[in-house]
Amino acid sequence: MKHPITLKINGDVYELAVDPWRTLNEVLREDLNLTGTKFGCGSGDCGACTVMLDGRAVSSCLTLAVEADGKEITTVEGLAVSGEQLHPIQEAFIEKGAIQCGFCTPGMEIASLDLLKRNPAPREEEIREALAGNLCRCTGYAKIVEAVHAAAEKMKTDKNGAQ
Ligand code: FES
Ligand code: FES
Repeated sequence: MKHPITLKINGDVYELAVDPWRTLNEVLREDLNLTGTKFGCGSGDCGACTVMLDGRAVSSCLTLAVEADGKEITTVEGLAVSGEQLHPIQEAFIEKGAIQCGFCTPGMEIASLDLLKRNPAPREEEIREALAGNLCRCTGYAKIVEAVHAAAEKMKTDKNGAQ
C-alpha cells in the first residue's frame, strides 16, 4: 500500500504517494526527474547520492522516501542562486578544475555545503575528513580540496544570498 508523503525539495512542495520500501534516491530520480543526484553503490559507500535533508547531508540511497516525509531537501539542482548564477561552491569547483567526469560532483558539492555551513573556514584535514564518504575516481581529490577552500573564501564575502 502506498503512503502519502510531502517533500519540500529545493523550495518546491511535492505531494506524492510512494511504496514504503522505495528510497529517497529512487523517488528523486525516477518520480521527480531530479537526476542531478546520482546513484552509485546503493550501499552508503560512494556518496554520489548525497542530498541535504533538514540541513544535514545524507545518503539518499539509504534514506527511505517515507522517512523524508515533511522534511526539507536540497539537491544539486537547488544549489544555484538563480538560473543565471551558480552557487559559490559550484563556481569554485569549475574554477579549480575539480570536475572531470562529473559523476561525483553533485554529492561532493552537497557534502561541501554541509561542511561549510558547520565550519566556514575548514583546514585541509577537515575538508578531507568531511568528504571521506564521497569517492572520486578521476581527480585525485587535490583539486576538490582546493575548490572547497576557494568556496569558503567566496562564501565569506558573498552577500548574494547563497545558502
Ligand atoms: S549510491 Fe548512495 S552512497 Fe553510493
Ligand atoms: S570527477 Fe569523475 S568521479 Fe569525480
